Amino acid sequence: MATDKASNQILEWHKKKSQETSPATTSHGAPLITKDASLTVGLRGPILLHDIAYVDEMAHFDRERIPERVVHAKGAGAFGYFEVTHDISKYTAAKVFDQVGKKTPVAVRFSTVGGESGSADTVRDPRGFSVKFYTEDGNWDLVGNNTPIFFIRDPILFPNFIHTQKRNPATHLKDANMFWDFITLRPETTHQITYMFSDRGIPDGYRHMNGYGSHTFKLVNADSKSIYCKFHFKTDQGVKNLDVDKAARLASSDPDYAIRDLYNAIANNNYPSWTLHIQVMTHEQAKNSKLNPFDVTKTWPHSDYPLIQVGKMVLNRNPENYFAEVEQIAFCPANMIPGIEPSMDKMLLGRMFSYSDTQRYRLGPNYLQIPVNCPYKVRNYQRDGFMAIDNQKGAPNYHPNSFGGPTNDARAKSLAPPFDLSGDVQRFDTGDEDNFSQAGTLYRNVLDEAAKERLASNLAGSIKDAVEFIQQRAVKNFTQVDADLGKRLTEKLSLYKRANL
Ligand code: HEM
Repeated sequence: MATDKASNQILEWHKKKSQETSPATTSHGAPLITKDASLTVGLRGPILLHDIAYVDEMAHFDRERIPERVVHAKGAGAFGYFEVTHDISKYTAAKVFDQVGKKTPVAVRFSTVGGESGSADTVRDPRGFSVKFYTEDGNWDLVGNNTPIFFIRDPILFPNFIHTQKRNPATHLKDANMFWDFITLRPETTHQITYMFSDRGIPDGYRHMNGYGSHTFKLVNADSKSIYCKFHFKTDQGVKNLDVDKAARLASSDPDYAIRDLYNAIANNNYPSWTLHIQVMTHEQAKNSKLNPFDVTKTWPHSDYPLIQVGKMVLNRNPENYFAEVEQIAFCPANMIPGIEPSMDKMLLGRMFSYSDTQRYRLGPNYLQIPVNCPYKVRNYQRDGFMAIDNQKGAPNYHPNSFGGPTNDARAKSLAPPFDLSGDVQRFDTGDEDNFSQAGTLYRNVLDEAAKERLASNLAGSIKDAVEFIQQRAVKNFTQVDADLGKRLTEKLSLYKRANL
């Protein structure tokens, strides 16, 4: 018998609940005569259409599921706070960072990426790491992953990239040819793939992984001066990963391993926490940088851009209503607040359209009125639509008006200073920018001998399922990461071939 809090949630509820025997009701609140029987003509007779208790129950059930997220469908959520421990007001005037000791409530969702909402938690995949900060200046969403980099650098590739990570539309199966065909045709994926097939590709639950904003952002201070920045959440629990065999065992014995682990830790008051750091780069440094600072397939070397500590995030509350608080939570990289701006990172800019677009489809046009998504203050001129609840207490619904409706904010203006841009408008294919050097550094300088061997085994174990010419293209790409990796991969693939696997 399972004794952990997540498995025994109903028993915990039973202990807390006052033991009144309140009658069940219809959804319009009328007490029911008999909860578990339909209205029928005689004991063996047919049911009747005017059995509104039945119709009420069934019609609601028929509408219970909403579209799952098109990516990151499976996840776990939790709530807590972010506390500023170090002053970074010289970089940003964002209210969330304006005072040491200040606490801001947060909602967090961790996720896998490619699987459906019933898939296993222990697969090799990046993990989503989304944080919603409920600040006085509106909600700031940092929608990152557990990897500091991403697969592609042009957002127009994203739908096609994701198609290859999901199911073949003819067979409804995951398809190694699709996967490795795309990956090897777009070698900018190599850095992230190297990371993902290393030990960090299967984190041990959600508490033992770091989170990264991944993109380059811009911070603006009270003097309207800006600086580029990256955000890093480092786990205070220490990084821990699962070995391949244990992950495979868990995928069948406890496919919800990561959700359960997070729930139980919080229910047992063992609150997980992360330390937030930033890296900063001046405009001058960005101009002179050999690496493109706006390319999300690259990291900024810590030796040149050291981590600056900012604060701590603690998760201390589990959701009480998973559907309302986690399934319906809506994160969007466009949700920034004064003092935090996007940079020219094409991927970030591309994402800024996609999330609220899908959320209007997934949750409806008034998804921001769902309590978990609702900022403290919304003062605008949007009204009505499906499931609208708030009409801002009768304030005018047009602007300009003569009656004191909300208008421009001078502080927000000073925190969005103008910047100069020029260039030829063209569709630039960015596929052949330096795709291998940082993956090579990761291979040579970060992985020890055993980790290199595991990386090559993990890669070969997946690439072997693709057809021969795609396998060869993969070997060619990984040889450009490092000749030694190419050699190991060739050897391991030939072992599979010899064994006819
Ligand atoms: C052009 C590139 C991208 C596009 C178009 C895109 C699009 C999407 C969409 C449509 C969703 C579902 C949102 C929802 O239904 O609420 C999503 C979820 C997510 N994406 Fe992306 N994505 C992109 C790149 C990235 C990158 C680079 C990261 C991380 C650095 C990332 C992290 C996430 C996370 C963590 C979620 C789950 C949010 C949640 O927990 O609800 N995505 N993405």
